[in-house]
Amino acid sequence: MVHIKPVIPKNFHDRVIAPSLLAADFSCIEEEVSRAIHAGADWMHLDVMDGHFVDNISFGPAIVQTVHETNDIYLDVHLMISRPDHYLQRFIAAGSDMITVHVEAEHDVAETLRRIREGGCEAGLALNPATPLSAVEPFFDQIDLLLCMTVVPGFGGQAFMPEVLEKIKTAAKIRDGKGLTFHIEVDGGIDAVTAARCYTAGANVMVAGSSTFRAPDMAIAIAEIRNA
Ligand code: DX5
Ligand code: ZN
Repeated sequence: MVHIKPVIPKNFHDRVIAPSLLAADFSCIEEEVSRAIHAGADWMHLDVMDGHFVDNISFGPAIVQTVHETNDIYLDVHLMISRPDHYLQRFIAAGSDMITVHVEAEHDVAETLRRIREGGCEAGLALNPATPLSAVEPFFDQIDLLLCMTVVPGFGGQAFMPEVLEKIKTAAKIRDGKGLTFHIEVDGGIDAVTAARCYTAGANVMVAGSSTFRAPDMAIAIAEIRNA
């Protein structure tokens, strides 16, 4: 299929729903992504795990390429890997639209963010619940998205960590105070109830795995998160 680069991210005032492929049925990825698009998904969130940065292994560039070639949706790629710099070119070539890397990983963060944008992708920076905002603030003027993890990364289906809400509030305040325009994304334990709290705190991009792909009706689940 001819792949037209999806519409670049909406602005950070817009609510964005990004179902996580991690919760999909891996035996029929093309159909699952298509199901999410028809159910109202804005982005597709692809959770890449290397079994080293997190205690789980999910999938790599080949799956990103499969989704890129079989569906037309903005690909929000979350690299939970120790060496994002080493693998970056392969994820760019696979068709990622947004590439988010962890500040805790072993790389030169500014250089990686620069290379992501140089490769034509939007650049995201993620921090785990235990990581203070001070670790990412120096990069606020070099990102298109800040991902505040609301679970310890590695597995879907975990309980939302409300203590992250304070961090989201502070990040939104600093961003607005500096006139910056990056999205604030949350990931882990997001459903209509926890999404409402995250919107109030200042997040606009909701990553949801279990609560969307495993809902009885995915379209209703996405609408409930969007209108939370
Ligand atoms: C990191 C993963 C999960 C996943 C969302 O562990 O990023 O957070 O996307 O999983 P749910 O929505 O099932 O908590
Ligand atoms: Zn994720």
